[in-house]
Amino acid sequence: MRLGLFDSGVGGFTVLKKVIELCPNNSFVYLADTARIPYGVKTANEIINIAEEISSWFSYQNIDALLVACNTTNAIALDVLKKNLDVPVFDLIGSAASTIKESRVGVLATPSTVKTKAYTNAILEFNPKTFVIEQPCPEFVPMIEMDRIDSDEITYVATRYLQPLLKQKIQSLILGCSHYPLITPLLTDILPSSIKLIDPAEALSLRLKLFMDSKVSNHTKKKKLVDLKFYVTSNLKNFPYKAKHWLNVFPEVNLVSLQKKGWVS
Ligand code: DGL
Repeated sequence: MRLGLFDSGVGGFTVLKKVIELCPNNSFVYLADTARIPYGVKTANEIINIAEEISSWFSYQNIDALLVACNTTNAIALDVLKKNLDVPVFDLIGSAASTIKESRVGVLATPSTVKTKAYTNAILEFNPKTFVIEQPCPEFVPMIEMDRIDSDEITYVATRYLQPLLKQKIQSLILGCSHYPLITPLLTDILPSSIKLIDPAEALSLRLKLFMDSKVSNHTKKKKLVDLKFYVTSNLKNFPYKAKHWLNVFPEVNLVSLQKKGWVS
């Protein structure tokens, strides 16, 4: 199958990795909207506009399914993506919420995601008695994109973000921005080992696998190929190095303009 994924930058790599682990025999079209990163401090209207453009672009890419590898767009504009595409759309928030077993849950996410309370609402739909506390983390994405993930600065910031959640005696912590699994070692250093870290990409990958198992023939399943295509909206030269760093591939990357209409697939 040909699967589309998008994010503002390298965050979606964490989703791509999990999906490849579970569903390796596929083609992937990865779009990073690097011209407009960070998404997580944008208004709902800006994100809706972005979702319109991205879904319009993907509608020319012959994809069989879209994986929403960005929580911010997921929280604000999932309906826009679904409305504009006639293929299945797999999301992080709904997938993760359906798997939560703990009664006290923390969520780290971008300010724009936290504003929507999308995680809280989705979790409460499955289990109305769950206590959920959401923490906005505006400083993480820029630091992760600049690969400042071993700095004292990010340790300080992470400790500060986690404090209110620890006070509330959370039992699990959802990494509600796809960039955050890239700092898992830092977070596990700060957190007590009793707190379970939840990467929503795991639940998304499982849902996708179930879907694919029901659709794809055994013959196709035997192939062991991963075909990756990367597109960015700016910083073309940088991106292969970022892919090398986080995914251990040095891909050819194409520059796209999402504002232009009439793409050729
Ligand atoms: N990685 C995205 C998310 O999951 C967007 C982060 C950003 O650009 O601020 O929310």
